[in-house]
Amino acid sequence: MNKIWSELVKHHRRTSATTIANLFEMDQNRFNAFSCETDGLLLDFSKTSLDETGLNTLIELAQQAQLPERIQEMFRGDAINVTEGRAVLHTALRAQGGAVVMVDGEDVIPGIRHTLQQMESFAGALRSGELKTATGARFTDVVNIGIGGSDLGPVMATLALAPYHDGPRCHYVSNVDGADITDCLDGLDPQTTLIIIASKSFTTIETMTNAETAIAWLRAALGDRASEHLAAVSTAMDRTAEMGIPPERVFGFADWVGGRYSLWGPVGLPILIAVGRENFRAMLSGAAVMDQHFQSADLRHNLPVLLGLIGIWHSNICGYATRAILPYEQRLARLPAYLQQLDMESNGKRVTLEGAPVSRASGPIVWGEPGTNGQHAFYQLLHQGTQVVPAEFLIAAEGHEPKLSHQHDLLKANCLAQSEALMRGRSTEQARALAQSRGIAEADLGRMAAHLTFPGNRPSVTLAYPRLTPFALGQIIALYEHRVFTEGVIWGINSFDQWGVELGKELAVDMLPLLQGAKDASKDGSTLGLVAKLTGSKPAI
Ligand code: F6P
Repeated sequence: MNKIWSELVKHHRRTSATTIANLFEMDQNRFNAFSCETDGLLLDFSKTSLDETGLNTLIELAQQAQLPERIQEMFRGDAINVTEGRAVLHTALRAQGGAVVMVDGEDVIPGIRHTLQQMESFAGALRSGELKTATGARFTDVVNIGIGGSDLGPVMATLALAPYHDGPRCHYVSNVDGADITDCLDGLDPQTTLIIIASKSFTTIETMTNAETAIAWLRAALGDRASEHLAAVSTAMDRTAEMGIPPERVFGFADWVGGRYSLWGPVGLPILIAVGRENFRAMLSGAAVMDQHFQSADLRHNLPVLLGLIGIWHSNICGYATRAILPYEQRLARLPAYLQQLDMESNGKRVTLEGAPVSRASGPIVWGEPGTNGQHAFYQLLHQGTQVVPAEFLIAAEGHEPKLSHQHDLLKANCLAQSEALMRGRSTEQARALAQSRGIAEADLGRMAAHLTFPGNRPSVTLAYPRLTPFALGQIIALYEHRVFTEGVIWGINSFDQWGVELGKELAVDMLPLLQGAKDASKDGSTLGLVAKLTGSKPAI
């Protein structure tokens, strides 16, 4: 492996004088060679600095990391989440046709299908009005209480699929900040609202606290019949029963579905309620098609593998510490936040599967906002800042608003213009000529040209799809899941645990008494000073 890493570094050094624009001049066919399409989803990575040798070397790296074998291990249910001793089978939640997936000697597919049917009949009854409120009315609103993986996926997908909504309105509460639940419930009527408590563990303090607040809100209006307005999604059926959720309203899943990979099963219940069975199933089948592609396409024509290798090239070889997710799709506004959890909770690891320190940077920082809004905010840094940020654009050929197709044309024009501008930049000569045309005095031309120069040669990839349908959304999310897996395999880390979130959780439990008057002189001066400020008390030291 080390030999290949050093070949990549050498190759980068050897070719770094050639710009991305030069690569297009040298190869008229570059777009065809450095783009790849499957089932209508196109990945264009021709606007990166990768050439054929670089790409082949990256593929060799993937082979040496035994990526094809690792892919098969995941899909067949091996316990690849070694620190938790679990299989990783979110893919089974969307497996189609006659799939068989064995875990501990048992095929898990019949159970998954049974739960899906239960979810569908519950959602169907809610949508049709057959499932009545405690007072015999129709449910108008659904509030999902969850956080992290029990929130971000459904939030992101509900917004993404807004044109398909024809069920009750779905709302989300995640933050333990009382403002979140207050602002949500303030506009709603407990008489016609269903609360879903979504938590894989059913112990997450934010979710449990918000659930208590919501249950009290229901009880104040409905008394003992509040439980008729409750449902839960969890792996911990004993705890849901303790909270008084009727068992027929509890949708379970197994621990081999990671929280951030869970929207395909019961955690996706609010999506199903919002868009209905057909659309939810179309989302699953989009993901299943990507699963099939990931397992069967050769590495050179495999979208998730390519996206992963491009990520490795940018972070480990080019040294770019972050990547920006830039959907030119307002309804993907929460995709960057969703991918932050998917990517950074999965690959923000500093030790290998064996517990040894990783020898190179692992998961990059992921951030982003929808275009075109980002253009008027942070793109300045993308174009002229001192850090290079590889950009990942997403754009549909068509929007859902035929009457506003002229606006969609403008959206597409902006998206393409940005990747062109990042790549081409503006030379100092061009900047000088521009300054001159604007009437800048000869003496000031040099200074002004410096400000108007864009270095260019900044990489981007573009994902293009026909329209943001449920199917396309499924493909896109599964593509990113498998990209994260590809990178994790190459870094030799476990992408499926999240020990790094534990310490803060434990300390928060310890901290609470201090904010309620207890003393603890063992805390540091900063913590004690802040406790004093936040409680209006005198500092303990
Ligand atoms: O704190 C991180 C985390 O454990 C995530 O991995 C998870 O998605 C989230 O909390 C919520 O967990 P749960 O679904 O168990 O409430």
